Amino acid sequence: SANINVMVSAAQKAARGLVRDFGEVEQLQVSVKGPGDFVSNADMKAERTIKAELKRARPEWGFLMEESGTDAGRDTRHRWIVDPLDGTSNFLHGIPHFAISIGLERDGEIVAGVVLNPITDELYWAEKGQGAFMNDRRLRVSARRDVSASLFATGIPYKGKPGHAPFLRQMAKVMAVSAGIRRMGVASLDLAFTAAGRFEGFWETGLHPWDVAAGIILVREAGGTVTDLKGGTEFLAGGTILAANASMHRALLDLVGPEAQHPGPAQTAGTDAASGT
Ligand code: IPD
Ligand code: CA
Ligand code: CA
Ligand code: CA
Repeated sequence: SANINVMVSAAQKAARGLVRDFGEVEQLQVSVKGPGDFVSNADMKAERTIKAELKRARPEWGFLMEESGTDAGRDTRHRWIVDPLDGTSNFLHGIPHFAISIGLERDGEIVAGVVLNPITDELYWAEKGQGAFMNDRRLRVSARRDVSASLFATGIPYKGKPGHAPFLRQMAKVMAVSAGIRRMGVASLDLAFTAAGRFEGFWETGLHPWDVAAGIILVREAGGTVTDLKGGTEFLAGGTILAANASMHRALLDLVGPEAQHPGPAQTAGTDAASGT
């Protein structure tokens, strides 16, 4: 659609700059925003390019962007949610796995998303009700229903951030029963790979809306289930996400969800049988 075209051309324009900067990362100026969170002038430049392109096409719409924050538009129904460079750590280490992520929110709901890896030229896009695609190939989440054959992606909350200690327990549980875990360092691509059926599922805590906005709709339009880590709907702004095909979503929720985190106080009489796993 017209909106997808606008998002794709903004992403592609910023991608050209990122590819140039990736060729000379040692020249970039880098500063530290927080534990494990870096930003460079490449991030800033990509963000400015994307904002200018989106604004030119849709002058009234608002923004939520990682580096410059919110910018309310005159049109309060529409908002672009943008991560100009998802995977900054990979980028700065010369690892060719990073992405530009652009989501479109309408009336509080994500209705379109674009995730572009400028190095592989894999362009993931989805629009509500229209399916999810990589370039021109239709995407479908994995059909696997066997946890022991499943590969799961995650992200590790840095030490000192909330969620670090519970994460280590979650990871041990998933490792014990699955075919493996990947921590590739790019939440938007973890979601895109889940939409493409490369991963059976993905979970992470400590995320921001710009990390997941576009990926959420990719997974949904590829037939997957997206919730927060409690199985609820606070996955955009709530900081936690769990995305997978329906059967692996249930399995992952059992492993890393609230029940798994907090076995809870002593069981009251009568509930023992129901919880006996
Ligand atoms: C990060 C990546 C990473 C995730 C972090 C994010 P950034 O984004 O998505 O996979 O684990 O939580 O902050 O900072 O590179 O845009
Ligand atoms: Ca960052
Ligand atoms: Ca990010
Ligand atoms: Ca970023």
